[in-house]
Amino acid sequence: MKPIFAANWKMNLTAGETRAFCQRFFELAGEDLAAAADIWIAPPFLSISPLVSELARAGCAASVKVGAQNCHWLQQGAHTGEVSADMLVEQGVSFAIVGHSERRQFYGESNEAVALRARAAIAKGLSAVVCVGESAADYSSKRTEQVVLEQLRKSLAGITSTEAERLVIAYEPVWAIGTGLAATASIAQGVHQLIRRELELLVPGVAQKVPIIYGGSVNAGNIAEYCQETEINGALIGGASLDPSSYWSLIQSGRSAEK
Ligand code: PGA
Repeated sequence: MKPIFAANWKMNLTAGETRAFCQRFFELAGEDLAAAADIWIAPPFLSISPLVSELARAGCAASVKVGAQNCHWLQQGAHTGEVSADMLVEQGVSFAIVGHSERRQFYGESNEAVALRARAAIAKGLSAVVCVGESAADYSSKRTEQVVLEQLRKSLAGITSTEAERLVIAYEPVWAIGTGLAATASIAQGVHQLIRRELELLVPGVAQKVPIIYGGSVNAGNIAEYCQETEINGALIGGASLDPSSYWSLIQSGRSAEK
């Protein structure tokens, strides 16, 4: 499976900063940008439209997938502060991150809500990047397997094998996010194998096609190690995706890593 290099900009990069990012990123990438559709970028909602316009202007719309960092399960209604899949599709979005640990931790996002969000996104033709991952306390008390599997089962509740064709799983241990303490490639590989086995039960037939990406302090220096593991199909990148040159070096070194 070809690796995916998915940027999660979180609450960073204004519309103006997004335009400047694109200018520099296109300069660095040049012709190589068009090589593959393995570059996925999820900016804040208000930077989606500027990103889509810049990609179109540079003729790169097919090379970079634009995503959102969340997606509501209803199409419209009295839900202050939320954004629906229809609204995202209209802007040119093709994937939505759901259940990021920051949403779970700071905004009370439940597994049940994550499942609704994922299925609503998929129903509108988006890919859903469903995030799971254990806390530092879970990790030190050796509860990773139990926590990750429970999140996975509940966050994929009701999902069919057909829907799972648009699914990506992101394994992001909370203790590794933004800390510089990345999980080793072998720790991540072990959890990804666990996730793959569970997907075989949950969405038989398509489990082998679902990309499982790792997130948590991934950078240009360590991406190759992840890409060399058989069950790591790319990365979800926060901090290292905010700077065009560090993101582009990461993509280059990930692309050249041999399995
Ligand atoms: P990080 O964030 O790369 O800054 O650790 C990853 C994420 O939260 O998706």
